[in-house]
Amino acid sequence: MGKDVIVACDFSSKDEVMNFLDKFKDKKPFVKIGMELFYAEGPQIVKEIKQRGHKIFLDLKLHDIPNTVKKSMAVLSRLDVDMCNLHAAGTIPMMQAAIEGLTREDGTRPILIAVTQLTSTSQERMEEDLLINKPIDKVVMHYAQNAKEAGLDGVVCSPLEAQKVHQTCGNEFYTVTPGVRFADGEIGDQVRVTTPEKAKEIGSDYIVVGRPITQAKNPVEAYERCLREFCD
Ligand code: C5P
Repeated sequence: MGKDVIVACDFSSKDEVMNFLDKFKDKKPFVKIGMELFYAEGPQIVKEIKQRGHKIFLDLKLHDIPNTVKKSMAVLSRLDVDMCNLHAAGTIPMMQAAIEGLTREDGTRPILIAVTQLTSTSQERMEEDLLINKPIDKVVMHYAQNAKEAGLDGVVCSPLEAQKVHQTCGNEFYTVTPGVRFADGEIGDQVRVTTPEKAKEIGSDYIVVGRPITQAKNPVEAYERCLREFCD
């Protein structure tokens, strides 16, 4: 695994997502299914997309007591997803429990990555609401180290943090990075963005790309352009 483009399927219904995926006849993209689609359509949507030959990153960001996370991860593992995630804020014992739950009888398991601090959390909110008074980049790296210590495979982070995560946790530790835009494309509501080519240079292992592909006039062409710029 490693070095792939993950298409964020941020749709709210089965019709919309299937209509989108029908466009891909040759190479079936690795897709991300988030809370919106999962809560709307249930686990069946994961099974159906998997049956069509796609790899799946199930982005549900679990965060609860270790026992609940362990049991929930066991359910997700049986859905045969390829990647899933949780909040590192749940602490190391919660992350270890997640790995136990995910691990199948034959020893295999989906890739498990951690969300560190959400990119929507500012230094100010972190200090005032969460009473965390360290610089946010230090907090992010510390959470990444905790995730590594717990046995996770990587973190979701900004492409601009990927290099530092690799320096801190090693090159084998995956960085999964959203916030990717084509050099000639629209930025939308993302603030700190980078191109697929630049993400490759920086060392991202997986880029998560939504609207530059889902809203493109020709989504297949946009996906292939991402693959060329990031993977070749
Ligand atoms: O459409 P766009 O390319 O901005 O989509 C990026 C995807 O990555 C969305 O599904 C978004 O929720 C997700 N994401 C993000 N920033 C984070 C974590 C996840 O944009 N820090």
